[in-house]
Amino acid sequence: MHAAPGETILQSALREGFSLPYGCRNGSCGICKGKILTGTVDYGRYNEETLTEEEKQAGMALFCCASPVSDLVIECREISAIKDIEIKTLPVRVEQLDRVAPDVMIISLKLPANQRLQFLAGQYIDILLKDGKRRSFSLANAPHDDEVLQLHARNYPGGVFAEHVFTRMKVKDVLRFEGPLGSFFLRDTSEDVPIIFLASGTGFAPIKSILEHVFYQEASKTDKHGKRNMTLYWGVRTKADLYLVNLAEQWQQQHDNFTFVPVLSDALPEDNWSGREGFVHEAVLQDFTTLENHQVYACGSPVMVKAAYQDFTTMRKLPRDGFFSDVFTPSTSSE
Ligand code: FES
Repeated sequence: MHAAPGETILQSALREGFSLPYGCRNGSCGICKGKILTGTVDYGRYNEETLTEEEKQAGMALFCCASPVSDLVIECREISAIKDIEIKTLPVRVEQLDRVAPDVMIISLKLPANQRLQFLAGQYIDILLKDGKRRSFSLANAPHDDEVLQLHARNYPGGVFAEHVFTRMKVKDVLRFEGPLGSFFLRDTSEDVPIIFLASGTGFAPIKSILEHVFYQEASKTDKHGKRNMTLYWGVRTKADLYLVNLAEQWQQQHDNFTFVPVLSDALPEDNWSGREGFVHEAVLQDFTTLENHQVYACGSPVMVKAAYQDFTTMRKLPRDGFFSDVFTPSTSSE
């Protein structure tokens, strides 16, 4: 593992794909504490109650603050599964609200100064409402980019919290959430198994998190080896619903192992659309005669996810254990 100049041990480990545990990333919680077996470090700025002088003498360091001064051998705990990640309940402040499509709002949430949220790309959080109800939102930011949490909220008829987001929510409002939750995250495979991402509407959010994290980790790989081929099919109704289309196009320009296929189901005449049309999972059926050696990650409406699972596994020989999904079920006032 190579550290870039000024990088902490934790930063370089995360960049290279090692899931070291962390909490605050500023030297106050102690979750990242590990042992320096050989080599020297600059301990950086940290809270002295979190790392005592005796612990330092015993070779311990806070990996979120310490940076290497020489080659190091370290001993640490690695997060290998969701069960290793702590589920927290935290307050957050609304930092920014961006209405990016007629019915899509991007909500940026700031955590308290001494807190960070460790999660796997693709997971979600539950916003805890005052009446005891919860609303689930996928995290759209990547785990390495965790200063501000990003959610993509869609407005829909009868959605009480959605309506609140679109009419009354203001910057500086305080919310509480529990997370991270869910098992929608990228599975490692030993071989180069190509990946198909399938998103409908704001199902784009967790896939954005996964892709940004993959691109970030690939940036430290020097050769093409180990870069998996990835295709994103993003299905929406009209062109205006492709709310981050520029970002997806930019990924395609920058990464030769990534292809973006937008699909409209109800293109308007003024959309002047010459791209793919119809249901998003049908575009995959048209493009692939077999999915035998693929993984599919589908996120969005229940109808889309169900149809994709059925058709891919029966008509295209996708292995059942190669299909991963996160279904967005709308919540209404009666729930
Ligand atoms: S001390 Fe909290 S993550 Fe390092």
